[in-house]
Amino acid sequence: MTFPTGPVTVPDVVDHIADGRDVTAVWVNELGGTTFSVGAGAEFVKVYPDEHAHLLAAEAPRLRWARRFTTVPEVIDSGPGWLHTRGLPGRSAVDPRWADEPRTAARAIGAGLRWLHDALPVDDCPFGRPSWVPRDAPAADRLVVCHGDACSPNTLMADDGTFAGHVDLGDLGVADRWADLAVATLSLDWNFGAGDFQAVLLDAYGVAADAERVAYYRRAWDSADDGAPASAG
Ligand SMILES: Nc1ncnc2c1ncn2[C@@H]1O[C@H](COP(=O)(O)OP(=O)(O)OP(=O)(O)O)[C@@H](O)[C@H]1O
Ligand SMILES: [Mg+2]
Repeated sequence: MTFPTGPVTVPDVVDHIADGRDVTAVWVNELGGTTFSVGAGAEFVKVYPDEHAHLLAAEAPRLRWARRFTTVPEVIDSGPGWLHTRGLPGRSAVDPRWADEPRTAARAIGAGLRWLHDALPVDDCPFGRPSWVPRDAPAADRLVVCHGDACSPNTLMADDGTFAGHVDLGDLGVADRWADLAVATLSLDWNFGAGDFQAVLLDAYGVAADAERVAYYRRAWDSADDGAPASAG
């Protein structure tokens, strides 16, 4: 779950898709998956090892569905262990561009989640709950279609600091909005260190902190992480 530091082998499927255009490895996750930018961000190809290929198979239909309502990548094609999308303008909230402006990033993440939760229709959602959300979760504060992996790197920001889009929707599903908010605020600590960023995120979302639900969903997230979460960005 970081920017690649050494050379990365370009898989044949990425080479084939690139067809001579520039290829850059932009992200390596903890499952051994790599995301490549093709043609300077015009397109992206995410490649996962065989044992995690089902996670990409889950992401393609979720992107296609969510794209009807909000800004997420367009799926160009997908196959076993790879997902090819059109690039969205914007860079990840953990891009070095925002390292010195964590409050701006926290605000964009909060605003982005509010946008997502307001835009996606629960009643029409064909997907169940995110893999890590317990079946017997407490009564929802507000049931929404959750991102499912609301970590900071999965929010894209425009250069003016506003929210630009969501990526990494393989675990999108219906749950209490606090499932996303608990992970999104926790992830700020990992990515930006100590500060009042959590309050900034919740303020941009437009909700007062709910310590009990936050603790519950962080516990659920952490215990799923010991097993095989859909993602961990
Ligand atoms: N279509 C796209 N447009 C713009 N940026 C993208 C696109 N797809 C991927 N990215 C960039 O690549 C990064 C990795 O993509 P993504 O989060 O989908 O991969 P992942 O390996 O599942 O991540 P994680 O570590 O969260 O599991 C994103 O944070 C984003 O910066
Ligand atoms: Mg990600």
